[in-house]
Order: sequence, then structure tokens, then C-alpha cells
Amino acid sequence: MGRRRPVQSQPSDQAVPAAAADNWWRQAVIYQIYPRSFADSDGDGIGDLPGITARLEHLTELGVDALWLSPFYPSPQADAGYDVADYRGVDPIFGELSDAYALIESAHRRGLRVIVDLVPNHTSSAHPWFAAALAAGPGSPERARYIFRDGRGPGGDEPPNDWQSVFGGPAWSRVTEPDGSPGQWYLHLFDPAQPDLNWDNDEVRAEFLDILRTWLERGVDGFRVDVAHGLVKQADLADWHYPQETLSGGTDQRRPPMWDQEGVHEIYRSWRALLDTYPGGKILVAEAWVQPAERLAAYTRPDEMHQAFNFEYLQASWTAADQYAVIDRSLAAADSVGATPTWVLSNHDVVRHASRLGLPVGTPRPNGIGIGDPQPDVQLGLRRARAASLLMLALPGSAYLYQGEELGLPEHLRLPDEARQDPTWERSGHTERGRDGARVPIPWEADAPSYGFGPTDASWLPQPGVWAEFALDRQRDVPGSTYEMYRTALRLRRALGLGSGTVEWLESGDEVLFFRNGPVRVLTNFGAEAVPLPEGAELLHASGPLDTDGNVPTDVTVWLRD
Ligand code: NOJ
Repeated sequence: MGRRRPVQSQPSDQAVPAAAADNWWRQAVIYQIYPRSFADSDGDGIGDLPGITARLEHLTELGVDALWLSPFYPSPQADAGYDVADYRGVDPIFGELSDAYALIESAHRRGLRVIVDLVPNHTSSAHPWFAAALAAGPGSPERARYIFRDGRGPGGDEPPNDWQSVFGGPAWSRVTEPDGSPGQWYLHLFDPAQPDLNWDNDEVRAEFLDILRTWLERGVDGFRVDVAHGLVKQADLADWHYPQETLSGGTDQRRPPMWDQEGVHEIYRSWRALLDTYPGGKILVAEAWVQPAERLAAYTRPDEMHQAFNFEYLQASWTAADQYAVIDRSLAAADSVGATPTWVLSNHDVVRHASRLGLPVGTPRPNGIGIGDPQPDVQLGLRRARAASLLMLALPGSAYLYQGEELGLPEHLRLPDEARQDPTWERSGHTERGRDGARVPIPWEADAPSYGFGPTDASWLPQPGVWAEFALDRQRDVPGSTYEMYRTALRLRRALGLGSGTVEWLESGDEVLFFRNGPVRVLTNFGAEAVPLPEGAELLHASGPLDTDGNVPTDVTVWLRD
């Protein structure tokens, strides 16, 4: 250990998006809003755009640079909006187009940039294109926008290949032809209500360029690109012979035919060229579950996307060795293409890190936790989550926060199975609980109905009875609260330029991770024993109290100044 990695950067304290540096994203802290669970303005139990606009103060008070909105477009909500029926509209459950304009404008006025979600791998089966494909029949130009094939076996009764859906079950569904006969099959890597588009089709390419243009003209600052590694499939649609357990790409030897194909890069180059014609630093962020880090880095070459989520970091186990390895590898991979690394610990697809880190070290990342599953140690999880977040926010590059993590919010661990809405639960035959536990509406006020999520008790997923203690109003101005820990971290990160700094590894070992970033030394204690503060160090910030001897206890991160 002891290497130094430069990170390309610009000063981080821009306030007004329009006038600010084009490189704002290189060190930005970006806050993910999951619209249905952030704030509900009308009391129907589903969060909405006016609810978000009314709560923007929270984001400026917290000190983030930008927000990313998960999909709010018209959708049957078969996969919580990741099944889009109209890419240019707003679903009535979230408001109207004018509400989206008001949100963008209000965010910009506060110096917050706005990133929207783009879902190009599949449409909803309620999209007019899919209806047209069904009506037009085999061989039609309408079908050519999707991936339709004849089945295998006698009568075409078997799916065209053996691919499995990420949510469970086959990745193919059979349609009934307009004449009533059993017909072709269409590919859906996710739910049957999410047919995959055919990215070899020129109309598809042109349509998405136009969708990008539409939202750019409406003033958004970038796009989070859903399933960015999935758009292009291996041309022969060859059998894969393995289960489709996760979204991950494999190694070069075993690269799945549906993920991380070379052809995706050309698409992102064309998008980048479009974005670069707009001023102000518009960005593309890849949601690409791709390994190893070098393959992921290819998505962020200078003429492709700006960022890619670092899921390898999210999945690293809580040991000094693993954290060192993933951080060092991520810095090197990003550096190799002139990108800046990103860091993320939670999002709407994974068990919240305050719960995940309470599972025994080395437990594979579960797909949801429910009644009857091995339960995490709640106190340990929060303690480690705070240490992990403070470590993450000291790293150079860009960090993504998921709504509620600033409150130390755990997963809903006792969500009744009958309340579950993630298609994973049904499609896996009730073997995978899925992602609902991370998507529960968040608590704002301890004593209000729905903890202040909305004006009524209504909440599309039930909130745990014990969430009052996590509510924002129980934590604001309370020294030592998770919320105040995040606020202080973000203020110091900005003031000390940590996002645009460099990592220089100091004496780390099996028990301690120790590095310098600019004027700050950062130490996380993973060992069983408390460790002394380095001599002469001034304690700037800590994820938990020091012990009575002034030492750094287990599972605590400290920021130190010389
Ligand atoms: C990734 C999204 O984050 C997830 O929520 C969704 O289910 C899949 N992509 C399919 O769109």
C-alpha cells in the first residue's frame, strides 16, 4: 500500500447549475429519489412529484449536488415504473408534466441538478409499439422493434432458447397471433410486461435519441441508464446453460450472451455525441452490473458515458482487505480511462446497507430479507453502515446516496409477504423476497400520520411500527444522529475538496484501513480492538464516539486533520 492516484477534477463548490463547470459530476454527491416512496402530496399513499418539490429543502440542507429520479413516466407499474409506456409523459399517480417542469426548475433554483432515469432495454407491454407488434404479426416491421422468434420443438411450443428472466422463470413468453393461433415468442429479460427492444433496429435507435433530446430540452442535467449492459444481445441468441441469477456479467471466459456485448458501446457513443451539443455538463450514468472493473470502465471511456455505478464496491465485504482491494481497483480502473470513480452503498434494488452490513461478514448479498429469513444484527448494521458511509464520503470521485440512508434507515425486515409488490416474489415461486423492503416510504416526522410521508396514513407499502426513531425531525440538530453525521460529512467533503482529491494509502493492515485524501487522513477500524488515534491528529469527524481512552473503537471511521 502507499500509492497515489490522481483524480481529474474541478473545484466542487459550484452553486448554480446553469453557470457551473461542465465537470461538476466528477466529484458530485448525487441523491437518489425513489418517487413513490419519498413524499406524498395528495394522501393516496404513493409519493409524487409535487411531494418531491415540496421537500427539496431537505436536499440542500443535507448538502448534496444533484438528485436522480427513478422513473415517473406513464406505466402500468408492473415493475414500479421500470416498465415505461410513454417515455415523454408523467404517470398520473406522480402528477403531470407541469409538475416535472416545476420540479426541475425548483431544483435548479436551489443549485441542485436533476438526473432522470432512462429505460432503453425494454418498454412496457402497454407501450403502443408493443400493441402494434402484436397486432401486426410475424415478419412485420412492428415486430422488428422487439425480439420476436419462432419457438423450438414441435409446433414451436418451446421457448427459442434457455434464457431465464432476472425475476425468475423463462425469459420468453408466447403470444397469440391476430388470427387466434398460438404464435411467436418474445424476449423479456425481466418481467413479461417488459419486452426487450431490438437495438439492431434503426427506429429504436432514432426514437431514443429523440427521447434524450426531449428531456434535454426540458432542462434535465443527465440520465441514469437502466440495464446499460443489456441492450445488445449476442446475435445468435445462443443458449446460456446457466441460471440467470443476477444482473452481473461474468468473466471473459463465460460472458453471458445477454450482457455486456461489445455492441452497446456504439450506442453510448452516439448518445454522448448528442449530449455534448448541450452546454452545462449533461451526463450519462450507466447502471451496468459488469465485472471485472476494467470491463465496467469501458463504459466510461471519454466518448461514452460519464459514470458507471460501482456495484463491486457496494458488494464488497466488510473487511479491511476487501475494502482496500475494491477501492484500489476502482481507482485504477477509472483512472485508466480518464474517468472518476463512483461509490454507492444502497439503492432501490438492494437490501439497505444499514441492514446488509448487520449480516455475518461474507454473507452473499441477499435478494430481500423477510420474516423467516436469517435476520441481521440491527445495531451492528447501523454502526457499520455509518462507518461505511463516512469512509465512502471521504473518497475522491462521485458518491450516490439512496433516500433514507442519511437517516440510517434499515430494510423493512418484517414486511408481510402478502404486501410485496416486486415481481421477483411471485416469479421466483416465493423463493426470493425481492426488493420491497428497501422501497418503503421514508419517515419525516415521528408523530405524524405515515411519519409525515403524506397527509394521511396511506402508504403503498406498510411502514414498520418502529420507524419514529429514524424520522428526520428526531435527528435534525441532534449531535451524533446519523443525519447530522451525513450533513457534517458533506459540508467537510465540499470545504476540504475531498471529492476532487487523491487517495494515498497509509499504514493499513488486516484490521485498519488508513489513507490520506488531501488535508484529511481517514481511518476505519475493522479489527476487534480499539486503535489509538495517530499522534498529533485533530479529530475532524467520526462515525461514532471514541472510547473513554480516546481510541477509535471497532467499526468506526474517523476523519483526522494533521
Ligand atoms: C434496474 C432497475 O434499477 C430495477 O429496479 C429494474 O427492475 C430493472 N433494471 C429492470 O428495468
